[in-house]
Amino acid sequence: MANTFLFFFFERLPKTYVDQGGGPALPLLAKVHDTRFNRFAIFIYKRKTNTIQTIMANSNLTNAKNKKNDEFYTQYGDIQKEIEAYLEYNPDVFRGKVVYCNCDDPFESNFFRYFVLNFKKLGLKQLITTSYKPSPVANTQLALFGDDKTLAKSKGRPKVTANRFIINEVHDIDDDGEFNLKDVAKQLKANKNNEWTSLEKDGDFRSDECIDLLKQSDIVVTNPPFSLFREYIKQLVDYDKKFVIIGNLNAITYKEVFPLIKANKVWIGATNFNKGMYFQVPNDFVYTDTYNFEREQNGVKVNRVPGVCWFTNIDHGRRHQPLPLMTMSDNIKFSKHKEIKGKKYALYDNYDGIEVPLTDSIPSDYNGVMGVPITFLDKYSPEQFEILGLSRYTKTQGMSKEFVDAYYKSGQTGAISEGHPDLCYYDHDNRPVVPYMRVLIKLN
Ligand SMILES: C[S@@+](CC[C@H](N)C(=O)[O-])C[C@H]1O[C@@H](n2cnc3c(N)ncnc32)[C@H](O)[C@@H]1O
Repeated sequence: MANTFLFFFFERLPKTYVDQGGGPALPLLAKVHDTRFNRFAIFIYKRKTNTIQTIMANSNLTNAKNKKNDEFYTQYGDIQKEIEAYLEYNPDVFRGKVVYCNCDDPFESNFFRYFVLNFKKLGLKQLITTSYKPSPVANTQLALFGDDKTLAKSKGRPKVTANRFIINEVHDIDDDGEFNLKDVAKQLKANKNNEWTSLEKDGDFRSDECIDLLKQSDIVVTNPPFSLFREYIKQLVDYDKKFVIIGNLNAITYKEVFPLIKANKVWIGATNFNKGMYFQVPNDFVYTDTYNFEREQNGVKVNRVPGVCWFTNIDHGRRHQPLPLMTMSDNIKFSKHKEIKGKKYALYDNYDGIEVPLTDSIPSDYNGVMGVPITFLDKYSPEQFEILGLSRYTKTQGMSKEFVDAYYKSGQTGAISEGHPDLCYYDHDNRPVVPYMRVLIKLN
C-alpha cells in the first residue's frame, strides 16, 4: 500500500475525530479549526506499515475580532488567468526567475499555491513568500505544515510570528504519483532544500528583512493592502523589480502611479479590468446593505470588489493589439453611441484638444490631442497611442467666467469658479460640461 496523506475540510468537526482522536479507520495527523473561514481541516496520514501517527497541531488562532477589512484573498482562477496571459506572450517569462509574494501567508494565499504548484511548469528558480505578523491568519499554517522548531519550545500559546518560506525545489516526495501541497508541506517540514523560518520582525514589506528578500527576487506577484498601494508600488519601482499586482482602479490617477503609466514603465494587466473581482472573505465578513452580488463561489464566501485591476510591468499580448478605430465622420455617421451619432466632437473650452467620451469612439484621423476616459488604459497600445498626461496634472487655461456663469445658469451644482483648472466644453446642444478625469492622448 502506498503512503497516503489526505486532508478534508469540514464546516463542523465530525464527532468521530473529536471523540476518538482520529479513530482507527482514518488516523489523524493534525486537525485545525480555521476560525476565519469557520471550517475544520483534518490531515490524515496513513503509512505503508499502517502505523498510526497522530500529531495534534497547535492551532494558535488569532481572535476573529482582530480581522481587518483588507483581508480579501485572491482566488486561484483569477491568478491563473492573469499569469497565463504573460506566458502566452512569452512562455519563458518566469524561467530561472525568483518570484516573491510579500503579502502572503502560505496557509491562505492562492499566490503561494499557484506558484508552488506550477513551479516546474514555469521553470522557477525559487519562490519566496513572507507572511505578515498582524495578519489574523498568521501561524495558522502550523497545523497545515506540521511542527515548527521555533514554536515547539514555547509554552502555552505559541508566539505569533511572521514567516519566510523559500521553495527551491518541488517534487513528488511521497511517491504517490502527483506533486501537490502535501509534498510542499513535507518538504518544508523536513527542511530539505526548502526553508521555513520565522522572520525577526513583523513581515512588513518595508522592513529590512523583506527588502533583503526583495533584492534577491526578480518578480513580485501579489495583492497588496490597497491602503498602502502608493508606497508598495514605489518600492517595487525603486528596486527595479518586475511585478504583477492587484490594485484599485483609482490608483491609476495617483501622482506616484500615473507618471509611470505615461512613461510606459507600468501598464494595466491582461485580465479582469474594472469587472469587479470576487475575493474570498472570512466567514464572519459582513456585507454592506447595498451588496447584491454573488456571496459564494467555488464553495467559499466571496465579496465582489468593483473597480480593481492588475498593474504590471511585464509584457502581455493584449497591450500590443491595436484598438479598431473608425474615422471621425464614420463615427458620427455609424456610432452605436447616442453621444456620438449625429453629433460633433466637442473642442475643450480651455485646452487645445477634443473630448472623446467613449474609448471606442476615438477617431482614427484626428491628429491633435484627445481627452478620453481613464478606462482607455485597458485598451492602450503604446504602438498606437502616446499618452500625454492626465487632466488632473495638466495645465489648462482655466475655466472662463462665461463658462462658469453658463454652467450654473444651466442648473448644475458642481464647485467650480473662474480659472478652475479642470477641462470643460460645451456639448452638441451647447450645454456646459465638466467631464470626469480624462487621459490626454494622441495617435502615433
Ligand atoms: C488584500 S490582502 C491579500 C492577501 C493575499 N495576498 C491574497 O491576495 O490572497 C493584503 C494582505 O497584506 C497583508 N499586509 C497588510 N499590511 C502589510 C504590510 N505592511 N506588509 C506586508 N503585508 C501586509 C495583510 O495581512 C493581508 O493579508
